[in-house]
Amino acid sequence: MPTADTEARNLTTFLQTGQTLAGTLELNRALARVLETLGRHHGMVRSFVSLLDAESNELRIVASHGLDETAVRRVTYKIGEGITGRVVQSGKPIVVPQVSREPLFLDRLAVRKKSLKRQELTFVCVPIVVNRKPLGALGVDIKYTPERDYERVTGFLSIIAAMIAQAIKVDHLIEADRRRLLDENIHLKQELRERYDFSHIIGNSNPLRQVYEQVTQVARTNTTVLLRGESGTGKELIAHAVHYNSLRAHKPFVKVSCAALPETLIESELFGYERGAFTGAHSRKKGRFELADGGTLFLDEIGDLNMSTQIKLLRVLQEREFERLGGTETIKINVRLVAATNRDLEQAMSAGQFREDLYYRLNVFTIFMPPLRERKSDVLLLADHFLEKFSREHNKNVKRISTPAIDMLASYHWPGNVRELENIIERAVLLCETGVIHGHHLPPTLQTAERSGTITRLSLDAAVQAYESDLIQDALKTTRGNRKRAAQLLDTTERILGYKVKKYGIECHRFRA
Ligand SMILES: Nc1ncnc2c1ncn2[C@@H]1O[C@H](COP(=O)(O)OP(=O)(O)OP(=O)(O)O)[C@@H](O)[C@H]1O
Ligand SMILES: [Mg+2]
Repeated sequence: MPTADTEARNLTTFLQTGQTLAGTLELNRALARVLETLGRHHGMVRSFVSLLDAESNELRIVASHGLDETAVRRVTYKIGEGITGRVVQSGKPIVVPQVSREPLFLDRLAVRKKSLKRQELTFVCVPIVVNRKPLGALGVDIKYTPERDYERVTGFLSIIAAMIAQAIKVDHLIEADRRRLLDENIHLKQELRERYDFSHIIGNSNPLRQVYEQVTQVARTNTTVLLRGESGTGKELIAHAVHYNSLRAHKPFVKVSCAALPETLIESELFGYERGAFTGAHSRKKGRFELADGGTLFLDEIGDLNMSTQIKLLRVLQEREFERLGGTETIKINVRLVAATNRDLEQAMSAGQFREDLYYRLNVFTIFMPPLRERKSDVLLLADHFLEKFSREHNKNVKRISTPAIDMLASYHWPGNVRELENIIERAVLLCETGVIHGHHLPPTLQTAERSGTITRLSLDAAVQAYESDLIQDALKTTRGNRKRAAQLLDTTERILGYKVKKYGIECHRFRA
């Protein structure tokens, strides 16, 4: 019968084991501590945990107590080999009451021969089972006494083994997660780099080429860059290009949008805070300046920054150091600054909304992003690029843009710049069912633009006619102006087609080239 004493001791051990295993992310060290407890409180002379190595499929001792560490590292067992190997093979515990009498005992560690002369030992080995698969074993040597209740010992060790199994399971999950995140991170970084090298910035108009040239000039320096230009012209894209073409490309690119954050939040966002700096500051938080260390900090919408933060920012730019909110430690920064705004900073300055000194600090190397209407030759390149992108994204087979639709895109003035074009093409791809984008897939603002403001709203009749004209021009394009084949394509007669060609004033010879 177990005494109340042993029961209490077992419970204490279970509790300690649970705490030890849960209390650390370093599994092997935790296992060693558990084995030590077994030695100290339960008279286990020696003990070890061996686990299957995923690659070699051999059993390797990962933690031990009372054994020579260097010897331990060398010893491996195959599944089915020796007592430990058999336990893992069968998933069942094995008890060897008297080790000296057991021929199966391999004693690779060669420790028992010596001690057996002095003291007979009992060896108990229980499997460690994870997801119903034995992944290892817990083995212990205890002093042999004839009256020992082996079932109780096995039961006790099985519980410890089950706790170890649970810890291994968690460890595997964490490891798998870590690996997945690592893979994902490498992949994402690669993708980012590819996305923002120049090849992903579309356009070869002169104004845009000048921008490329400026980026190349400035990227490899540490100079502060100010990006200006209307909304949607690609300032953020260029900010990325500056970073990914710089020597800091492998360090972080961190963005702060000064407009999206309320005034009170922006400072803790930029500079971080110490624990207790204000209500709700439960722990220290690093600011974006610190997170961007060694890399680039992109301050977007800088024209919207409030006055008090402007002063603090100015100080950081001048002295290259700052303190966290509620902190006294001075933090040095090594950060390249890129700022962007679509606001008229000069006007904001004269209205007293933007500090002059900050303006001069930022205005070291300014790149002006040209509006899309001033680089019409980029419109079609961009339209084709977005067509391909969104066809792929939405799994649609849209191949090209019809001539009338191209005319509409070309004559529009693009107040929302590239972003507007991007949205319009995405919408057209979604609406398109035929593989070709036609005029009627474009929003009404463009339709009226093409008709130079004479029609404010398209009637059903006008829309149908425009569509019909589009289809015919398209068919003629495919057949290079051959009316007969165009009529076949459209499932109509040459006579009807001829009539419509005349009605819409389509010039067939245009398609013969
Ligand atoms: N030259 C370009 N090639 C490809 N895509 C572009 C180009 N210029 C802009 N874009 C795309 O247009 C969209 C708007 O660009 P971006 O966000 O960089 O504009 P922005 O100048 O920062 O505008 P805002 O001032 O409104 O923030 C983005 O999706 C961007 O990828
Ligand atoms: Mg932007």
